[in-house]
Amino acid sequence: VFTYLYFNKENKYPYDDEQAGLNEQIVIKFSHIVAKNTPKGQAAEKFANLVQKKTNNKVRVEVYPNGSLYSEKEAIEALRQGSIQMIAPATSKMSTFFPKLELFDLPYAFPTYDAIYEVFNGEIGTELLESMERENLVGLSYWSNGFKQMTSSKRALVNPNDFSNHRFRIMPSDVIEQQFESLNAQTSRISFNLTYRNIEQGLIDGQENTISNIYSKKFYEVQDHMTISNHGFLSYVVVMDQEFWDNLPNPIQAAIKEAMKETTAWNQQHAMETNQQALKLLKKSSDIKIHTLSVAEKDAWREKFQAVYDNFEPTIGEEWMDQLIGE
Ligand code: LMR
Repeated sequence: VFTYLYFNKENKYPYDDEQAGLNEQIVIKFSHIVAKNTPKGQAAEKFANLVQKKTNNKVRVEVYPNGSLYSEKEAIEALRQGSIQMIAPATSKMSTFFPKLELFDLPYAFPTYDAIYEVFNGEIGTELLESMERENLVGLSYWSNGFKQMTSSKRALVNPNDFSNHRFRIMPSDVIEQQFESLNAQTSRISFNLTYRNIEQGLIDGQENTISNIYSKKFYEVQDHMTISNHGFLSYVVVMDQEFWDNLPNPIQAAIKEAMKETTAWNQQHAMETNQQALKLLKKSSDIKIHTLSVAEKDAWREKFQAVYDNFEPTIGEEWMDQLIGE
């Protein structure tokens, strides 16, 4: 009971939330599914602190990591129902609603972090963020994790042939599904926080993810091989519910936008480093065998992925496709 009482300055009278004026505070519940020591986990904390500072505590952002409130699928529903106000799902997971977002999953379309930042900040990224309105969502920004690597409990994944007789956990994205199909592997769409258990139980053999996710979710405990392939990029779209946003006073919206801009810049400066640190820690805490793809090995994968590009051109559009991967 005591924890619900607040004392005034003189420490004289216990009084309640309402008398303390705390009921005027706006709470933004921000639910995400990854660990705190990842690019998204860190960005979420940073954003929460900045908003609190910029609004003089008028807004409190409560961050719920590790899927402690909702799985990724539940979170989208919870956002719509107003149980939470903010999420930052992988673009792959929003592609059911916005098929063009699949472009961020195209394998080997982005050679560097800067290449993807250019798309975020350019015409394609802007148009896609604005299109979120269609589903009553406010697209606030893109955040980054980093390049995805392959892991397997069966064998080292070096040549395209190594993927046969493998089942991979994937995010719900048609491009990712076809990426594995083009390598002759099977897939299952499984939520992030059930991946470890599915591997442990032998229901799937492998998965693709960034090193920060592989490390923080301890996938290395149940996977024997990791290939540094950098074949795909894991990006996020940060969204709020439109109705919630529209009801925020203008100065609060402005403060949130400012905090988001600063957080995104910070995320872009630190995402790569966080993954590099995770690689060091991973090497220290596990004996997972690591293979780094050579240029020739990458080329052999890339050749297989051509089919994915061809299949998705109608969804993404010829013009954007040309901009992304060249004519
Ligand atoms: C995954 O499901 O593998 C990722 O989307 C997790 C995340 O949000 O980084």
